[in-house]
Amino acid sequence: MESIIFSTQIATDLDRYLKTKNFSKLGLIADQNTFNACYPLIQEILPKHEHFQFQAGEGNKNLQTCISIWEWMTDCAFDRKSLIINLGGGVTGDMGGFCASTYKRGIRFVNIPTTLLSQVDASVGGKLGVDFNGFKNHIGVFNEPEAVIISDAFLKTLPLPELRSGYAEVIKHGLIMNENYFHSLKSHNWETQKWKDIIEKSVSIKKEVVEKDPKEEGLRKILNFGHTVGHAVESFYLGSKYHLLHGEAIAIGMIAEAYLSRQHIGFSQEGLDTIIETLLSIFGKVNIPSEDLEAIAQLCFQDKKNEGKTINCSLLKKIGSCDYNIAVSQEDIINSLNFYNTIHK
Ligand SMILES: NC(=O)c1ccc[n+]([C@@H]2O[C@H](COP(=O)([O-])OP(=O)(O)OC[C@H]3O[C@@H](n4cnc5c(N)ncnc54)[C@H](O)[C@@H]3O)[C@@H](O)[C@H]2O)c1
Ligand SMILES: [Zn+2]
Repeated sequence: MESIIFSTQIATDLDRYLKTKNFSKLGLIADQNTFNACYPLIQEILPKHEHFQFQAGEGNKNLQTCISIWEWMTDCAFDRKSLIINLGGGVTGDMGGFCASTYKRGIRFVNIPTTLLSQVDASVGGKLGVDFNGFKNHIGVFNEPEAVIISDAFLKTLPLPELRSGYAEVIKHGLIMNENYFHSLKSHNWETQKWKDIIEKSVSIKKEVVEKDPKEEGLRKILNFGHTVGHAVESFYLGSKYHLLHGEAIAIGMIAEAYLSRQHIGFSQEGLDTIIETLLSIFGKVNIPSEDLEAIAQLCFQDKKNEGKTINCSLLKKIGSCDYNIAVSQEDIINSLNFYNTIHK
C-alpha cells in the first residue's frame, strides 16, 4: 500500500519528503489550472525539475495526451531513477501515474491530489489509467505511487462545485462504513467543514476497504454504492446541456440506490428519508426527463463491472453498512429513477 502523508505545511513537508528520495531527474505533471493555482504553493522548494502541462478536463484523459507525456519524458531523458510528481485532480493522478507506470516499464511517481475527490477517493487504491473510445478508465493498470501527499491548502482555489462533487464521495464513505461519521457530516454545513479531518477520516475508510480487497473481488465493491445508477446518469448527460459533475450524478445515484436498498434488502424507510433529506439539501434536485429513463437504465448494463446481463448493485443494509452483488433488473433501475423524480424538495 502506498504511503499517505497528511501535510499541514505542503511546501515544507514536500521538501522534507523529496530530501529522503534519491532520484536522477525530477518531473512534474499538471493541468493548466493546477499549474496556475497549485504549482506556486510548492514551486519554491522544488529542486531542479522539468514540467509538463496539459489542458484540464476529463476530455483530455486519453492516449493522445499520454503520447505527449511519454514524448516529453523521452525528450527530458528521464531514466529508471527519475521521479515524477503528479500535481492535480483525479485526471492528472490517474493519467500521470499511468504514464509513469508504463514509461520504461515503470518509473516512480508521487501523487499530490488537489481536488477533494482525488484526495478522498482517487488517492487510494492504485487504480491508474485513461479513457478510451468513450469508455471510462478503459486502459490502465494497478500500481502504487511512492507516496501520496495530501494537503487541504489546495482546496482554497478549488471551484465550489468541484468541492461539492468530492463531498458526495465523503458522504458515501459514511453511508457504507460508518454511521457516526455520516451523522457528524450531516450536522455541519458542508461548505465550512474541517476539511483536514474529513480527508483523514474518508481516506482511512477507503484504505480499510481497499486493503481487505485490493483487486475488487468482493468487499471493495461497496465503494460503488450510488455508482451503478450515478455513472449511468453521468454518462448519459456527458457533453449535453444537463452535464453533471461526477459527485452530482453520484448524489442522484445514492438516492436511487437507497430506494433500491429499501425495495430489495429491507433498508429502513427512516434511513431512506434521511439520505434524501441530506443529499437534496446539499445537491438540490435535478429533473431527469422521463423519456430519458429507459436509455439511462440501459447504460447500467454496459458498465464493465457487471457480469453478463445482471446488474449487480451495492446496496445499504442500514446506514453505515453495505452489501454487494445484489442483482437488480432494468425495470428496478427505471423505478428507482422514477422514484427520484417524484421526490419533492
Ligand atoms: N483512481 C481512482 O481510484 C479514482 C477514483 C475516483 C475518480 N477517479 C478519476 O478522477 C477523475 C476525476 O477527478 P477530479 O474530479 O479531481 O477531476 P480533475 O482532475 O479534472 O479536476 C477537476 C477540475 O478542477 C481543477 N482543479 C484541480 N485542483 C484544483 C485546485 N486546487 N484549484 C483550482 N482548480 C483545480 C482541474 O484543473 C479540473 O478543471 C476522473 O477521471 C475519475 O475517473 C479515479
Ligand atoms: Zn465516484
